[in-house]
Amino acid sequence: MFGKVFVAALALAAAANAQSATATSTASVCKQSEVTATAQADLDALSGCSTFAGNIILAETLGSAAINGIQEIEGNLICKNNTQISSITAGSLASIGGSFTLNGLTVLSTLSFPLLTSIGSINWVTLPAVDSLQFTTGVTDCDDIYISDTDLSTLTGITLETVNTLSINNNLNLNQIEMPITSVSDQVDVSYNGECDISFPDLIWANNLTFQDVQSVSTPKLSTVNASYILISNNFEKLSAPNLTTVGGLSIIKNDNLESISFPKLSTIGSAGLEISNNTEIESFSFPKVSQVAGAIVLKGSFDNATFPMLSLVRGAVTIESDEDFDCSVFNKLNSNNDIRGNDYVCSAASTSSSSALSSSATATSGSGSASTTAASSSAAATTSAASTSSTGGAAAFVPNTSGAAFGGIIAAIFFGIF
Ligand SMILES: *[C@@H]1O[C@H](CO)[C@@H](O)[C@H](O)[C@H]1NC(C)=O
Ligand SMILES: *[C@@H]1O[C@H](CO)[C@@H](O)[C@H](O)[C@H]1NC(C)=O
Ligand SMILES: *[C@@H]1O[C@H](CO)[C@@H](O)[C@H](O)[C@H]1NC(C)=O
Ligand SMILES: *[C@@H]1O[C@H](CO)[C@@H](O)[C@H](O)[C@H]1NC(C)=O
Ligand SMILES: *[C@@H]1O[C@H](CO)[C@@H](O)[C@H](O)[C@H]1NC(C)=O
Ligand SMILES: *[C@@H]1O[C@H](CO)[C@@H](O)[C@H](O)[C@H]1NC(C)=O
Ligand SMILES: *[C@@H]1O[C@H](CO)[C@@H](O)[C@H](O)[C@H]1NC(C)=O
Repeated sequence: MFGKVFVAALALAAAANAQSATATSTASVCKQSEVTATAQADLDALSGCSTFAGNIILAETLGSAAINGIQEIEGNLICKNNTQISSITAGSLASIGGSFTLNGLTVLSTLSFPLLTSIGSINWVTLPAVDSLQFTTGVTDCDDIYISDTDLSTLTGITLETVNTLSINNNLNLNQIEMPITSVSDQVDVSYNGECDISFPDLIWANNLTFQDVQSVSTPKLSTVNASYILISNNFEKLSAPNLTTVGGLSIIKNDNLESISFPKLSTIGSAGLEISNNTEIESFSFPKVSQVAGAIVLKGSFDNATFPMLSLVRGAVTIESDEDFDCSVFNKLNSNNDIRGNDYVCSAASTSSSSALSSSATATSGSGSASTTAASSSAAATTSAASTSSTGGAAAFVPNTSGAAFGGIIAAIFFGIF
C-alpha cells in the first residue's frame, strides 16, 4: 500500500522509535503524497512519523481512527462520507498544514486533538453528533473556517486573533461565539445557527460582516467594515456599533424585533450604500455623523423619523418609503441642491400626498431660503415621476430631476399659487 520512499522513511522512524515511544527527540519526516487509511493498522504504520508530508485520508470503512505519533501533517486530513466512524483522535498532533475536512460523518461524536494549535483551514460539514471539541491546548492559528450543520454549542477550542474567513451556519445548537479576533481580511458570516450570542471584543476591522438570525452582536471596538456589513433577520432589539466610523455598505433588513440602532461615530458609508428596510418595529433612527454615502440609500418601513443631520452628499440614488408620517423635507432639500447624484430620488410617506408635499417643501424652504429648488422637488412629483408616484399607492412621491431647478422656480409659483 505504501510507496518505497515512504517505507524507507518508516523503517528509519521505527528504528529511531525503538527507544522513545513518542519519537519527540528524533524528527522523522515521512514523505508520501497521500495515504488512505482503511483500517487502524494503516494509521499505526505511520506512528513513527513525527511529520507526515502529505495528505491523510480516513476511508469510509473506518469505525474509529487514532492518529498516534504524528505531530505534524503538512497536507490535509480528510474524512468524508463515513456513516460509521464514531471517534477521531490524534494525541500528539499539533499542526495540520492544509485543510482539516470532515464531511458527512453522521455518528462521529469524539473529536479529540488535545495538542492541536495550527490548521490551514477547517471545513466541517454535517457532523450532527459532534457537540464539543476536545481541543485542550486550543487552535490559535487557522486562516479559514467553515462549520455547518454540526451539534456544537460553542466553538470552545478555537481561539483566533486573525482570520480570513469565518463562516458558521446551520449549527442549530450553537448559542455562543466569542473570539479575540482583531481583524478579518475576508469575511465573517454567521447565519442560521441556534440562539447565538456573538462577541468579538477585540475586533477592529473586518472586510465583510454578515449576521443572520443571531441573538446579539457585540463589537465594542469595531472601527471599519471595509466592504459590507449585513444584518438580516436577527432577533435582537438593539444594535450598537459604538466605535464604527467607516463602512463600505450597511444593510439592516428584516430584523423583526429591532427597536433601536446606535451608530454614533459612523461618518462614511461607501459604494455599497445604506439600506434599512422591513424592520417592522423600528420607528426612529438616527445617523448623527454620516456625512457622505458613496452608494445608494434605501429606507423602507414604518418609521416616522430618520435623522441624518450631517448628510451632505449621496452619490447613488435615494429611495425612501415609509408607511408612517415621515417628513421628506431634508431629503428633498438635498435633492434639490443636487447633493443626491443618483438618477432616482423617491421619498414617499403614508400621509396624504398634498399635505406631505406642502409641509416638506415649506420646511425645506425655511431652512435654506431657496424656494425655487425646493419646489422643484415637489413639482417633479406631478411631472417627471408619475410612474413612481402611482406605484406607491397614493403616497407622496418625489422624483425630481437634478437639472430641474430653474424650471422648478416657475412651477413653484404655480404650485404655491394653487394652494
Ligand atoms: C457517500 O456514500 C454513499 C453511499 O454510502 C454514496 O452513494 C455517495 O455517492 C457518497 N458520496 C460521496 C460524496 O462520496
Ligand atoms: C465581501 O467583500 C468583497 C469585496 O472585498 C465582495 O466582493 C463580496 O461580495 C463581499 N461578500 C459579501 C457577502 O458581501
Ligand atoms: C475606536 O477606534 C479608534 C480608531 O478608529 C481607536 O483608536 C480607539 O481606540 C477605539 N476605541 C475603542 C474604545 O476601542
Ligand atoms: C480595512 O480597513 C482597515 C482600516 O482602515 C485597514 O487597516 C485594512 O487594511 C483594510 N482591509 C482591507 C482588506 O481592505
Ligand atoms: C420587504 O417587505 C416587502 C413587503 O412585504 C417585500 O415585498 C419586500 O420584498 C421585502 N424586502 C426585503 C428586502 O425583504
Ligand atoms: C427624531 O430623532 C432625532 C434623533 O434621535 C431627535 O433629535 C428628534 O427629536 C426626533 N424628531 C421627532 C419629530 O421625534
Ligand atoms: C434627469 O436628467 C438627465 C439629464 O440631465 C436624464 O439623463 C435623466 O434621465 C433625467 N432623470 C429623470 C428621472 O428624469
